[in-house]
Amino acid sequence: MSNVWPPSASRDVSGALSVGGVDVRDAAAQFGTPLFLLDEQSVRTRAREYKAAATAVGAQQVYYAAKAFLATRVAQWVHEEGLGIDVASGGELAVALRAGVPGAALVMHGNNKSAQEIDAAMAAGVGRIVLDSFEEIARVADAAQRAGIVQPVLLRLTIGVEAHTHEFIATAHEDQKFGFSVASGAAEEALRRIVMLPSLELRGLHSHIGSQIFDAHGFEASAVRIVAFMAQMREAMDIEFAELDLGGGMGIAYLESDDPLEIDQLTRQIAEAVVRDCAAVGIPMPALAFEPGRSIIGPAGITVYEVGTVKPVQTDAGVRTYVSVDGGMSDNIRTALYDAEYTVDLASRTSAAEPMLVRLVGKHCESGDIVVRDAWLPSDLVPGDLLAVAATGAYCRSMASNYNYLPRPAVVAVAGGAMSVVLRRETLDDLMALDPGA
Ligand code: LLP
Repeated sequence: MSNVWPPSASRDVSGALSVGGVDVRDAAAQFGTPLFLLDEQSVRTRAREYKAAATAVGAQQVYYAAKAFLATRVAQWVHEEGLGIDVASGGELAVALRAGVPGAALVMHGNNKSAQEIDAAMAAGVGRIVLDSFEEIARVADAAQRAGIVQPVLLRLTIGVEAHTHEFIATAHEDQKFGFSVASGAAEEALRRIVMLPSLELRGLHSHIGSQIFDAHGFEASAVRIVAFMAQMREAMDIEFAELDLGGGMGIAYLESDDPLEIDQLTRQIAEAVVRDCAAVGIPMPALAFEPGRSIIGPAGITVYEVGTVKPVQTDAGVRTYVSVDGGMSDNIRTALYDAEYTVDLASRTSAAEPMLVRLVGKHCESGDIVVRDAWLPSDLVPGDLLAVAATGAYCRSMASNYNYLPRPAVVAVAGGAMSVVLRRETLDDLMALDPGA
């Protein structure tokens, strides 16, 4: 099957889709729809590829960015494959710890960490805290002092490079909430404060330039600026930066035409750029770290929906066929939020019928509730057919909502023909439990 489906995806003799050796019809019958299926081997393989690529360039660590999707099982898989975890809230921290991942393997993010989150991170002994504001420098230093520890930290930079797929923009201005601006002098001021605080150990710098990036150009553009800043700070303050965490953002294929660089190639190109830049300004090469989220979990996931209605609608431009499924923007907000594009296929059978252009929509009370804006599906599609949407492992379940009181779907791992629940489906009782009047 094409590049957008998990590597284990295939069609059996009946034409039905299977993933991880599991027929999607069986999974749907057992767990209901909408349903997320997660190909465990695909997650593990991609985590392993990152580990190998990072080791090959002498990197310090690869952290799986938990925001893409987190459950204890997933934390265990990636940790078993040698990765640490990037947590961006007390909740993500708690799940990673509950999974048995040691605090030392975690990096803690967030532009507004609460006092409780900072304390929890320190109690867990998190390996790195990424500092994001002047207030936070003081808060973390104070908390470390109270805890009687020296906390290793990274400083998050904003370097005016923003990247998305093949494009990146590099400017002098940085209008965003994250990090310390290099251009304005805030980053230098932050370093001056950090080096004065004995409860903080400055390990290095952090930069995250964007998401769904297909090649190394944006990373290269940011590396030049970061390394120049490192050289200036060495000159000004005699600081040696041991580590450089370049964040996540590595892209995946959502459409067959998408062609992101392979993991090892992208890692190598980025590392080579940093080596070149450091040599040019005469500073030692820092140990790199990466924080891929989507690139590890995204390709491993699919969503299975059941078709409920097929409605031809007369428009000025002709007939548009709306195909409604039993989920929608509550399990995949990305189409509505980012105009994201997805690939969908008939999953419960094959069909020789002519393809028809459809708009795949959900069941929510909102006309923007679109899963796939333009999709080609067989014209004999009927209610009860199962559809699969590819590459939904990242930022779908993790951004899911209960809009219209829809319980959030289950996530089921598939491997070697077996299914196991990663997150069970929410029930109406789960939701009612929040309502004291119910
Ligand atoms: N590290 C940092 C500091 C980040 O802010 C992010 C993502 C990552 C790592 C992981 O990025 P990834 O490798 O997954 O691209 N909800 C959006 C994506 C938001 C990403 C935010 N930060 C989406 O659905 O496309």
